[in-house]
Amino acid sequence: MKVAIIGTGYVGLPTGVGLAELGNKVVCVDKIAEKIDSLNSGKITIYEDGMEELFQKNLKKGSISFTQDMETAVKDADLVMIAVGTPPHPETKEADLKYIYAAAEELAQYLTGYTVVATKSTVPVGTGDEVEAIIKRVNPDANCDVVSLPEFLREGFAIHDFFNPDRIVIGANTTKAQEVLLTLYKPFKGKTEFLLVNRKSSETIKYASNAFLAMKIHYINEMANFCEKAGADINEVAKGMGLDSRIGKKFLNAGPGYGGSCFPKDTNAMAQMGKKYGARLNLIETTIAKNDERKVEMGQRVIDAVKDYKDGKIAVLGLAFKGGTDDCRDSPAMEILNEILRHSSNVSVYDPKAMENAQKLIGDKVVYANDAYEACKSADILVILTEWEEFKHLDLVKLKQIMRHARIMDMRNMLNPKDVKNNGFVYSCIGMK
Ligand code: UDX
Repeated sequence: MKVAIIGTGYVGLPTGVGLAELGNKVVCVDKIAEKIDSLNSGKITIYEDGMEELFQKNLKKGSISFTQDMETAVKDADLVMIAVGTPPHPETKEADLKYIYAAAEELAQYLTGYTVVATKSTVPVGTGDEVEAIIKRVNPDANCDVVSLPEFLREGFAIHDFFNPDRIVIGANTTKAQEVLLTLYKPFKGKTEFLLVNRKSSETIKYASNAFLAMKIHYINEMANFCEKAGADINEVAKGMGLDSRIGKKFLNAGPGYGGSCFPKDTNAMAQMGKKYGARLNLIETTIAKNDERKVEMGQRVIDAVKDYKDGKIAVLGLAFKGGTDDCRDSPAMEILNEILRHSSNVSVYDPKAMENAQKLIGDKVVYANDAYEACKSADILVILTEWEEFKHLDLVKLKQIMRHARIMDMRNMLNPKDVKNNGFVYSCIGMK
C-alpha cells in the first residue's frame, strides 16, 4: 500500500518506519528542509529506542523516503495520514488546529483515485468533520473518506508500542475506508483487538484514555502526599492496589507530576471540550490544577532542603519528561528546575539524552555536566527528577566522597532507601516519611 505521512515528529516518524517495515511504501512529508535533508541522508532526527536500525534498513530498501513536496507524497497514495502537531493554544488551551487544517487544504489538491485520509494527530471531537469539509471545498471531485486513527505510542517506546498495540481503533464512517485500514493492519490480525467505531467515538477514545491515565497518576501522587503524613509507604500501597486486576499495576508510580507533549495538552483540551459541550469534566479540571501545583511544591522541597547551606549547590539528574526520551517539552523536571532557579543560581545538571533540548529551553542558567558524578561534585544535594535506568546504579560510595553534603532527594523513587541510608546519606523520596 502507498502511504503518505504528513509530519515527521514523534508520531509521524515512528509510524512511518513501522509501516515501511510491514511492507508498505511510505513517503513522509515535512515543511522543514533540514529535517528532510537529514532524514534522506540517513541521519535520524529524534531518538526512539530501536528505531535507528529499522529506519536505516527501510531507507536503503527504498520502502521509506522523505520529501518537502506534498504532491509527490500524496499523488497515488492509498492512504494519507496527518501527523502534524496540535499544540495548545496559548490563551484558550484548546488544541490549535491550524497545522491540521493547513495540511488538509494542501493535500486535498493532490488526491487522485479513492484515498483514505486519516488523522493520526490527537484532535478534538468533530475535527474529522472539519477536515472532510475542507477537502470537499478545495477539491469537490475528491474521492476520499476521512477517518480518525488515534495513536497510542509512548515516546521512547514508540517502536515497541507500534508492533505490540493494546488495540487498534479505527474511526471510519464507511465500510470502504474500514476495509483499507483493516488491510493496512492485517499483520496484527489475531494479535490484538480491532475496534471499528464511528469517527467521533474514535476521537473521544484518545482523549478519554490519556485523561484517565493522567488522573491515575494524579491519584497516586495525592495518595503519596497522604502516605507521607500518615507514615505509610506509597510503593507498598501502589503494589497492593495494582494487584487488583480491576485497578491494574501500570501508571501507579508516584513522582513529581506528569508531563510531556501529550498529557498536559490533552487534559487541557479535553477540559475545554467539556466546557464547550456543557458537560464539565471536574475530575480532569482538578487533575490539571493539582498537577501544576505539584511541580511548584516539588521545587520548593528542594529549596527547603538546602536553605541552611549558604549558596548550596544543587545537582539535578534527569531533565527529560520521563526516562527513555530526549524530549523536554512540558517536562516536570524542567518546571521544577525553573522553580529551583528562582531561588538558586548554583545548579549543575545532567541527563543522558536530553541535554541539548534542555539547553534550548534554559540556556546558560545552569552548568551542564558530562556525567552524573561531574554534576554531583561538591554538591549539597542530589535531586533525581527523571527515571533513567543508569541512575538506579549510581555508585553511592563514590557519590559520598565527592559531594559536600550527603543528601539525596529521589523524586522518582528509584533508589533503595536502605542502601542509600546505609551509605550515610540523608534520603528523601516520594510518598514515605
Ligand atoms: C502518552 C500515552 O501513554 C500514549 O498512549 C499517548 O499516545 C501519548 O501520551 P507519553 O507522553 O510518551 O505517552 O508518556 P507516558 O509514558 O504516558 O508518561 C507521561 C507522563 O506521566 C511522564 O511525565 C511520566 O513520567 C508520568 N508518569 C507515568 C508518572 O508520573 N507515573 C506513572 O506511573 C506513569
